Amino acid sequence: MYPLCLPRALTRILVPDLHLRQVSRTMKETGKQLPRVYVTRRIPPDGMAILKRSGLCAIEQWDSDDPVPRSELLKKVVGVQALYCLLTEKIDEEVLKAAGPSLKVVSTMSVGYDHLSLDELKKRGIRVGYTPDVLTEAVAELTVALLLATSRRLIEAVDEAKNGGWGTWKPLWMCGYGLTQSTVGILGLGRIGAAIAERLKPFGVKRFLYTDVAPRAELAAKIPAEFVSLDELAKQSDFIAVCCALTPETQGICGKNLFSKMKNSAVFINTSRGGVVNQDDLYQALVKGQIAAAGLDVTVPEPLPTNHPLFTLKNCIILPHIASATLETRNAMAALAADNLLAGLKGEAMPKEVPL
Ligand code: DGY
Repeated sequence: MYPLCLPRALTRILVPDLHLRQVSRTMKETGKQLPRVYVTRRIPPDGMAILKRSGLCAIEQWDSDDPVPRSELLKKVVGVQALYCLLTEKIDEEVLKAAGPSLKVVSTMSVGYDHLSLDELKKRGIRVGYTPDVLTEAVAELTVALLLATSRRLIEAVDEAKNGGWGTWKPLWMCGYGLTQSTVGILGLGRIGAAIAERLKPFGVKRFLYTDVAPRAELAAKIPAEFVSLDELAKQSDFIAVCCALTPETQGICGKNLFSKMKNSAVFINTSRGGVVNQDDLYQALVKGQIAAAGLDVTVPEPLPTNHPLFTLKNCIILPHIASATLETRNAMAALAADNLLAGLKGEAMPKEVPL
């Protein structure tokens, strides 16, 4: 499970010892209490090792692979100076009030920060760290995998092969849609969108289109990708990959209006946030054949209940939010979140800070 750096069993034994020695030395030297940090989950070892080895903070942790219950979070944040959280924790006015004025830093182990109430954080002068860049490749790779699995009907085909549906070779059976000579539309051209386009180029894509709040000329020129309106993206694309952040402006942006303009043969892929899609509208579009298929790595809620109608559709593949799930990437995210948190505690520039 943890092949990077120390084996998991060893980190459990060695790192706490090292940490305790450092903490007690620092406390003796300064005679001061170390700043308290609350970590809301068991995190990858590289992140915890950085926090512990720093000797700069006293760490309390929800030591579980499952999210900390809200009531526990509200108790544990009281009086802490820094909070290390994941995308599963809503850090809103209630949490910030519970934490009180001691809280100076919130560091999330995610590139997305739609779970953080930025206005509330800004009002209190709390600095916020996040983890862009280190997950770009992993997310782009998974997006391509999901696009291919969806467009070439891989899950359906595997099921047919396993369950006796494979009669004989038939000319039109299990036909999907190919990338060669296609038009790919990217909704939200940032680092991840550009990395997806780079990975799709060798498949022989003819045109890349993108839409965003404003043209991203420099990034687009490298692909190259043409800036178009959302309507044009919908009308012209054979594949749409959603890569935008979830904001009030993008909430539900992929709904009836978008799906009704897409080609019947189009494939829709979302690896950003579930909230950008109106799932009822997507279900209708898939059932009515308004679009050909959808691949989702993110949903609302997460996990999506197993009796959700989208799970009944053969032309919809749903993954459990795994786009950044490689060991290297998750360790890099954990380490960057730890570095951000420590920089914030020291009053230094964070490696990756959300501008508020
Ligand atoms: C993020 O970091 O925001 C992704 O959704 C999870 O890797």
